[in-house]
Amino acid sequence: MSEAQSIYARIGGQEAVEAVVSDFYDRVFDDPLLEPYFEDTDREALYAHQVQFISSVAGGPVSYDGADMQQAHEGMGITEEAFGRVATYLEDALRENDVPEDDVDAILKEVGALEPDVVAQ
Ligand code: HEM
Repeated sequence: MSEAQSIYARIGGQEAVEAVVSDFYDRVFDDPLLEPYFEDTDREALYAHQVQFISSVAGGPVSYDGADMQQAHEGMGITEEAFGRVATYLEDALRENDVPEDDVDAILKEVGALEPDVVAQ
């Protein structure tokens, strides 16, 4: 595996990330435990920010201009269970879109490290 290329480039850039994020939110919004968290959310804006966010996590030449993870999830009472499900749906969406296993692992490791910022204290 070449380390010179970013995950973003390797998996197919913007188009690939858009496919992953779209698949990811289909799963999230289909889950009755998660859907209520998103009741008042502008889903198009969320999708656009998530594409930027995942692109930057994957080393893409894209800047994320949303709120930081703690601010974005503050006051929502997000549980560990909810976090676990969201992380699992991201994993499923990455696999479903043929992202190589090592890259799935690397992205999930980064996202897993955000748990303390996302889950309610
Ligand atoms: C697994 C790691 C997670 C990542 C990487 C992540 C990422 C993001 C990003 C990038 C945004 C956009 C922020 C903005 O537009 O400024 C966002 C917003 C949001 N996230 Fe997460 N998130 C995660 C977990 C969760 C979980 C577990 C929940 C709830 C079950 C959740 C619920 C929300 C909601 C409701 C919003 C929209 C807030 C609003 O309406 O402004 N997120 N998240």
